[in-house]
Amino acid sequence: MILLDGKKTAADIKEEIALEVSYLKNNGQDSPHLAAIIVGNDGASITYVNAKVKACERVGFESTLIRLPENITEEELLNEIAVLNVDNDIDGFIVQLPLPRHIDDQKVIMAIDPNKDVDGFHPTNVGKMALNLPTFISATPFGILELLDRYNVETSGKHVVVLGRSHIVGSPMSILLSQKRKVGNATVTMCHSRTKNLKEITLQADIIIAAIGIPEFLKADMVKDNVTVIDVGITRLADSSKKNGYRLVGDVAFEEVSKKSEFITPVPGGVGPMTIAMLLKNTLLACQRKN
Ligand code: GUN
Repeated sequence: MILLDGKKTAADIKEEIALEVSYLKNNGQDSPHLAAIIVGNDGASITYVNAKVKACERVGFESTLIRLPENITEEELLNEIAVLNVDNDIDGFIVQLPLPRHIDDQKVIMAIDPNKDVDGFHPTNVGKMALNLPTFISATPFGILELLDRYNVETSGKHVVVLGRSHIVGSPMSILLSQKRKVGNATVTMCHSRTKNLKEITLQADIIIAAIGIPEFLKADMVKDNVTVIDVGITRLADSSKKNGYRLVGDVAFEEVSKKSEFITPVPGGVGPMTIAMLLKNTLLACQRKN
């Protein structure tokens, strides 16, 4: 079993980005600037956004964190976005999801200038991604492609089973892996909550991408020998023995599934750090495009 070490790979990528930033600075250019909007007080979301801002500092980016109250109106949030869209100092920005229920996610995403949409969530960018045109690929699928690439995991001709059809992970992942691209050319089956005979399907998979948000859903009896497993799940389970009161659990029963795996990502330290690294990569790209 080979562990796909997202923490180490993300550190390598961040080092490469930091080098690019020093190159930009040495040429008298501004360093990339990422802004992040977070609405409300959801603990997990705040942790993720703080990690993104900290990662910016590490690679020499400028960063701006905009914290807005839970009860902000949709209109006020749209106004904040309009300001960032025309701020020449900001190369890219994200609005952390999920948003409070009184705000329409899709309306918010569509208000973001596609050229600054480093999350790659705007329909223009999703459309370009689906057509295999240059664009911002959203950070989690982008990170998974990069991780598979750097560990030379063969995807061409393989049967990939994607569990989950979210707009952020499952859907783009299945599109990307079926495309004609370096990490791609796979035969993809996308499964979701209405899929029948799931185990029959997962047992045929050479590669499984688990992105459903159900802790330890994928068990050893659902996978064949020498499978490659990418675990996108990250659920906080209460654990009084931990300092912070919880432990992070993926969608894969790691103990048992890893014994049958050729490659597998851990949780934490797998896909999570890669997501942040690729957000930085997209921000660097946005900055380079502008100059
Ligand atoms: N919520 C969970 N993942 C993400 C992400 O990649 N970007 C944003 N903006 N929100 C998220």
